[in-house]
Amino acid sequence: MSRHHESSGQEDSAARISFTIDGETCAAIAGQTIMEAADGAGVYIPRLCDEEGLDPQGSCRVCTVKVNGRPVASCVHPVGAGDVVENDTAEIRGWRRDLVRMLFHEGNHLCPICEASGRCELQAMGHRFETFEADLFPYLQPVRPVDASHPDIMLDTNRCIRCGRCIRASRDLDGKHVFGYVGRGINKRVGVNGIDLSHTDIDLDDMAAALETCPVGCIIRKRLGFFSPIGRRLFDMTPPGTAIQKRKGNSK
Ligand code: FES
Repeated sequence: MSRHHESSGQEDSAARISFTIDGETCAAIAGQTIMEAADGAGVYIPRLCDEEGLDPQGSCRVCTVKVNGRPVASCVHPVGAGDVVENDTAEIRGWRRDLVRMLFHEGNHLCPICEASGRCELQAMGHRFETFEADLFPYLQPVRPVDASHPDIMLDTNRCIRCGRCIRASRDLDGKHVFGYVGRGINKRVGVNGIDLSHTDIDLDDMAAALETCPVGCIIRKRLGFFSPIGRRLFDMTPPGTAIQKRKGNSK
């Protein structure tokens, strides 16, 4: 399903439908996903594996909403005329809190010493859903490799949440297919065709989109650490979803 594209003449002639989200009536274009329609209406649905400009993967489930009483992943589920969507309810916030909490417990996310702290979407979701208020699950503390062999970037799979955004960005935006999954089950992580980064003939520019889209501190640019002081970091200033919420009232 292709999505998140700028509006075009084709869309202008497409069927307009309406639906409600948390009781608010919103307009959509037939064929859009619920997330696309909500984005267009200025309603933010939290997400991790999805980013505007990438095809959806539908794996993290943080974007789960209820449609006519049934839970679905909004980034892959098409919106229907008259749909009643629940997004920001106590029940759904609880699901999202547990999903985010499990990601923290499954990997090794040491926020205070992570270069991505303050601009990490996982950390921002942790704060949003008060994930750090209690430890409900055991920490798995897996042993995972760090690949610092490339001159310009480093891959720390302790922080990989398997969102696949780098894989899609590398394939569809960089056109390079640098990243892919390696391993299975709980050992699945992002990698470079099973080899070290140093064995690629790829330079920094070839990985620009993949680097940019990593929501955590898994793909790190060398020699550029901790460049914003606490209080002036990206999500100190504008939490995830700010740009989408600013669209409210501007949608047709
Ligand atoms: Fe929809 Fe991850 S954002 S499943």
